[in-house]
Amino acid sequence: MLAGGKGTRLRPLTIHTPKPIVPIFERPFLHYQLDLLKQVPEIDEVILSLNYQPRRIEEIFGDGSDAGLNIRYVVEPAPLGTAGAVRYAGESLHESVVVFNGDVLTNVDLAAVLRLHRERKAKATIVLTPVDNPTAYGLVETDAQGNITRFLEKPKADEITCDTINAGIYVLEPDTFDRIPKDEPWSIERSFFPSLIERGETFVAYVDRGYWIDIGTPEKYTQVHRDIMDGRCVAPPFATAPGSTVIAPGARVEDGAVIEGPCYIEEGAVVKAGAHIGPYSVIGRQCHIEEHATIERSILWASTRVCQDAVVRRSILGRHCHIGRNASVEDGVVLGDKSVLTDFSRL
Ligand code: GDD
Ligand code: MG
Repeated sequence: MLAGGKGTRLRPLTIHTPKPIVPIFERPFLHYQLDLLKQVPEIDEVILSLNYQPRRIEEIFGDGSDAGLNIRYVVEPAPLGTAGAVRYAGESLHESVVVFNGDVLTNVDLAAVLRLHRERKAKATIVLTPVDNPTAYGLVETDAQGNITRFLEKPKADEITCDTINAGIYVLEPDTFDRIPKDEPWSIERSFFPSLIERGETFVAYVDRGYWIDIGTPEKYTQVHRDIMDGRCVAPPFATAPGSTVIAPGARVEDGAVIEGPCYIEEGAVVKAGAHIGPYSVIGRQCHIEEHATIERSILWASTRVCQDAVVRRSILGRHCHIGRNASVEDGVVLGDKSVLTDFSRL
């Protein structure tokens, strides 16, 4: 798993929380990817390729036994890029390797991807997904047999020739890794994949039309919560009850608070009388939502206080924020941990 990026597009949330462990309903994101890997018995080891704040990630997953996996960590001395990271982490590997971008959520059938890779005796197989606008991704063209004929990272609008993009999930043969220069930054998207095409290697596409998202921007990070709440993506804590109101057993919602689902209120959160929690809200652990405060379509990380009569709409608040009385935070605001908004301020 490539989980070494700095998560710049998610700043300020990623200043103290590296992207692979940003909470999705309080659950560090990588858990969702590990759930998927666990479904494939032949995956016998997970290597997390890290660079940015590696200790924070190691603390959460340890040796993987809690997650039912065998996890090892490889920390690059400096960022080596997506291909450099694969070579650095995969030095001792001799069997097919599944590579995952550490910020994509999908229900792809990995066992089927591995089967296709073997059937085609491919050097590389990549999962493709259709999107409306490929400019933020790697555009991938294929021929009628499913061979990859072109890989163009971050195409300009006038370079778009199809709607299939690189989903950030690959199966690679380690005997190709020696083409990646050692100890210098190298991109799998811009250099390694194009080189496979140039050399005429068997480079195959597996097109998946199921759920897929890259959580790497505030808009997508918010969207993944909505998708899980609505059941478009089947995942905890809404896997069995999409569209519902999920209130953890240890949360306290006072009489007279108005709660509209779908929404999520985590353990230890307190919602006072007269407060209004609107649809698509996520109230993190130990948050306090005081009397007559309103939260709508917003994600609040743990331990944030929203004081009386304040309003938070369509925004994301990091941990330990303080939103003063009658303050309002609206329309795409992203606040880092420990932000303080004084009474009556508007953002
Ligand atoms: N270890 C390590 N070292 N990991 C890295 C490094 C590095 O130097 N640079 C990036 N990563 C990790 C990031 O943490 C992330 O999990 C993954 O590699 C991809 O990097 P992003 O920065 O998220 O790339 P992107 O989203 O712009 O584009 C990539 O993903 C798209 C799908 O979401 C490309 O692979 C595109 O082709 C693809 O369509
Ligand atoms: Mg990304």
